[in-house]
Amino acid sequence: MAAIGSAVGLGNIWRFPYLAGENGGSAFLLIYVAATLAMAMPVLIAELALGRMGGGSPIGSLRHIVRENCSSRFWELIGILATICAFLVLSYYCVIGGWTLRYVYLAIGGSFAQIGNAGSYAMFTDFMADPMAMISWHLGYMLLNVVIALGGLRKGIEKTVVVLMPLLFVLLFAMVIYGATMPGFATAVDFLFTPDFSKLTPFAVLSAIGQSFFALSVGLGSMIIYGAYLDKGANIPGCAVIITGADVLVALLSGLAIFPLVFSFALEPSSGPGLLFITLPIAFGQMSGGALTGAGFFLLVSVAALTSSISLLEVVVTRLEERFGMTRSVAAWLVGGVAWALGLVSLLSFNVWSGVYPLAWLGMMKTSSIFAVLDFFCLNLLIPVTALLICLYMGWVLAKGTIRDALGFGGEASFRSWRFCLRFVAPLGIISILAVALLS
Ligand code: PHE
Repeated sequence: MAAIGSAVGLGNIWRFPYLAGENGGSAFLLIYVAATLAMAMPVLIAELALGRMGGGSPIGSLRHIVRENCSSRFWELIGILATICAFLVLSYYCVIGGWTLRYVYLAIGGSFAQIGNAGSYAMFTDFMADPMAMISWHLGYMLLNVVIALGGLRKGIEKTVVVLMPLLFVLLFAMVIYGATMPGFATAVDFLFTPDFSKLTPFAVLSAIGQSFFALSVGLGSMIIYGAYLDKGANIPGCAVIITGADVLVALLSGLAIFPLVFSFALEPSSGPGLLFITLPIAFGQMSGGALTGAGFFLLVSVAALTSSISLLEVVVTRLEERFGMTRSVAAWLVGGVAWALGLVSLLSFNVWSGVYPLAWLGMMKTSSIFAVLDFFCLNLLIPVTALLICLYMGWVLAKGTIRDALGFGGEASFRSWRFCLRFVAPLGIISILAVALLS
């Protein structure tokens, strides 16, 4: 349950729709789903198994496994890269988490009523233009994370997920039905499901693959931690199928809720990170009871985000406890504080530094803000490289028997196909797309 909470989050509800919108819709969706099944899910199984074998933080687990199996210390890099990436992603994930809280507040205050597309657009851009407001919500969101981490996390998170995730499904589903009554629904379905490969650049394929890992919480170590918590008897492949199913379903529902509004109100599918926040308030503004539904919706999105960011925080906090013997509260305040401060850099790149393009000399990053560069670096480079190392280590270095034991269950045929994905499909896919996208 906690792993579903980690997987389902802003990656599915906020990031997936705007990336699909920027990259032509259907072809992006297709690659995202294929990459989820053939690459991200196999790596998810591998991560959960690494956690079960290692029993600690990603760095601690890898260290333990490497020693126990007399592998080269090179493979400890997996834990180190995952932890660095978890920390970097945490810093800006919490900025967006702050946006979701702000939208709960706006909905309750009645700001969505009859807002229309120009009004909704202005509401979002006004918020982006107000760094102090953004910093306050960002701070509030980070404090929530630290407070949850202080309480120790398992019971609280599992209960929250059991109750609130189904509610999120129901509300998303209701929004899809609402979208189906809109004039733009057919265009949206066409946009998402009629494959059109003309817009598919190598860069788009790389983003779809990066997105499949990120949305499933793979490559940042969170699943290694949850694998360590998992019951010894639990069936890892079975868990992975459920986690993946929930993850893809939420992404699809989010797309189907958002794009009918985009096309009905003549909005731009490629409007970037604001897409979720600009489109949905228009729909809530038109429904009766929309203030309440809108507030409920953004509240559930905030909770989905929290159950994800808490698993990122956990990666670093657990390591500090393990390595330096810090108490949980010192570690949680320290990581939360530093990640918050670092997050300010991403936050300011939506306003004060919106014209700063740190990698402008690199053709494909000509107009990428600090946030966009950091997001690209983590999700399209660091995560695929970490996932690649996991595939190579689990697929080629560790003995077959050791892995088989760690999985807990799985018939011979499914074990073989999993191992095939880990040895061939995922590594070759990652290497070739990284090479093509970065060299083109
Ligand atoms: N999967 C989460 C989401 O979709 C993000 C995340 C990635 C959380 C990695 C933890 C670890 O929002």
